[in-house]
Amino acid sequence: MDSTQAIRRPTTLLLLLPLAWGALVAVVLGVYGGMHQPTGYAVSIAGFSGPLPMKAWLTTGAFVLAAVQLFSALVMWGRIRLNLPWIAGVHRWSGRLAFLLTLPVAFHCLYALGAQYDTPRVMIHSIAGCFFYGIFTTKMLALPRRGIPSWTFPVAGGLAFTALVALWLTSSLWFFTTIGVKF
Ligand code: HEM
Repeated sequence: MDSTQAIRRPTTLLLLLPLAWGALVAVVLGVYGGMHQPTGYAVSIAGFSGPLPMKAWLTTGAFVLAAVQLFSALVMWGRIRLNLPWIAGVHRWSGRLAFLLTLPVAFHCLYALGAQYDTPRVMIHSIAGCFFYGIFTTKMLALPRRGIPSWTFPVAGGLAFTALVALWLTSSLWFFTTIGVKF
């Protein structure tokens, strides 16, 4: 049995652990969000008139960076034929910045508001929020693992992008169309 066969057999096993950790992150956020007594405690960043517009714009920033991620991934995978040697760096940094922008928002959501399931919009939003961090964890833990099936990254990346689109539609778009486009 040559070494490539040895690597091939553990491939599925290698994927299972990142998936298990991702599922654990999503479930823990959901349970915390469901059991935690919402505090209503809110922080805001200078330049915004309050936590809601702050969250709506930070989420919009993460959404735009996620679109850069999608475009750069399509170039990296040769679906968009452009010769951009620096595109992998753009993909990595737009992903890191998008993730960082979500953190103060999700902190406010979970700590001040908790997970809520009373309306379809907020239910989809709460579930998409937990799922986003779960699939992001799975992708980041799978990245350094050799022998992982090659479809893992477009699938995990696609799911993370879809979750962020769902988060933006169920929060920022709702905010901009209900309360208004304001800072
Ligand atoms: C981690 C799990 C998350 C839970 C449980 C959660 C839950 C919530 C809830 C209950 C609200 C109030 C909805 C309302 O009454 O209008 C809310 C608002 C909001 N959330 Fe989240 N969220 C989560 C993650 C996220 C993430 C990751 C983002 C952005 C990337 C985000 C962006 C927003 C924004 C912009 C609002 C304010 C607009 C609104 O009220 O809908 N949330 N969230």
